[in-house]
Amino acid sequence: MPFPQTRLRRLRQTPVLRDLVRETRLDPGDFVMPLFVEAGLDGRAPIAAMPGIDRLSISAAVDEAGEIASLGIPAVLLFGIPDHKDEEGTGAYDDEGIVQLATRAIKRAHPDLLVMTDVCLCEYTSHGHCGLLRTDGSVDNDSSVDLIARTAVSQARAGADVVAPSDMMDGRIGAVRAGLSDTPIVAYSAKFASAFYGPFREAADSTPAFGDRRAYQMDPANGDEALREALLDVQEGADVVMVKPALPYLDVIRRVKDETRLPVAAYNVSGEYAMIKAAAAAGMLDERAAVLEALTSIRRAGADIVITYHAKDAARWL
Ligand code: PBG
Repeated sequence: MPFPQTRLRRLRQTPVLRDLVRETRLDPGDFVMPLFVEAGLDGRAPIAAMPGIDRLSISAAVDEAGEIASLGIPAVLLFGIPDHKDEEGTGAYDDEGIVQLATRAIKRAHPDLLVMTDVCLCEYTSHGHCGLLRTDGSVDNDSSVDLIARTAVSQARAGADVVAPSDMMDGRIGAVRAGLSDTPIVAYSAKFASAFYGPFREAADSTPAFGDRRAYQMDPANGDEALREALLDVQEGADVVMVKPALPYLDVIRRVKDETRLPVAAYNVSGEYAMIKAAAAAGMLDERAAVLEALTSIRRAGADIVITYHAKDAARWL
């Protein structure tokens, strides 16, 4: 008698049985589509490094949100590109700022679509860092946290259903929670200092003018530290914890899921998107198969929510 394990392929031979025993399913209901909304823009403007993704005016974002909802995708994540940047990132916490205006417009037109807002200063600061600078050029954690919390409160007042702080300052989840007792917080808990954010920085015009983000974002080499970050955010009041990027950090997604038992979000970032798009455009791989495999792997690793620029395409393919 052979061991039963030697016949695992019995489960693979019939398509119906293969489907029946599938452990992970992909559903448009698990996706969040990021949107870039730009002040003063008329219509849409393509982002060269992210084929298929545009910067949007507020009215184009409202239309786009309608299309996203009609595909069965339950949520969008808003990023703002202001018409004016300054040292203090005032556009981020202006009640009439671009994300606040876009949030109001999208919620008015599509009340059932969940609007999540990215909470950070880097799109709004003239130097492109995620916080306020000291005279020596380093980022001042604590004064930055005050402005991050102000930004989240302003976005929630504009109608954001969920706020998502992405700045990686220490203590910001607690500060946001102190200002917002009822708004769910999706914390970018384990956000790595990654080369895969390149296309996003072009899209949001948020490349740091000098230096890099390694003083506040995580070292890609550290898994235990990602757990410490996630557990701190949970203590401070996060409702969902995020790992970002996704594909190079599948092990971290799994560990965060196992340790927190909270809903986990994974952000399949701009560079991950761009890689597949570029390879597909060059005829090097099958885009549809590659995207569905990548997104399934992120879910299998333990992510409940997948934030991805592929959301619309994947929803159509499913
Ligand atoms: C802002 C922020 C970034 C991303 C999301 N929020 C960029 C960064 O840290 O430079 C990246 C998203 C992507 O690459 O798709 N702090």
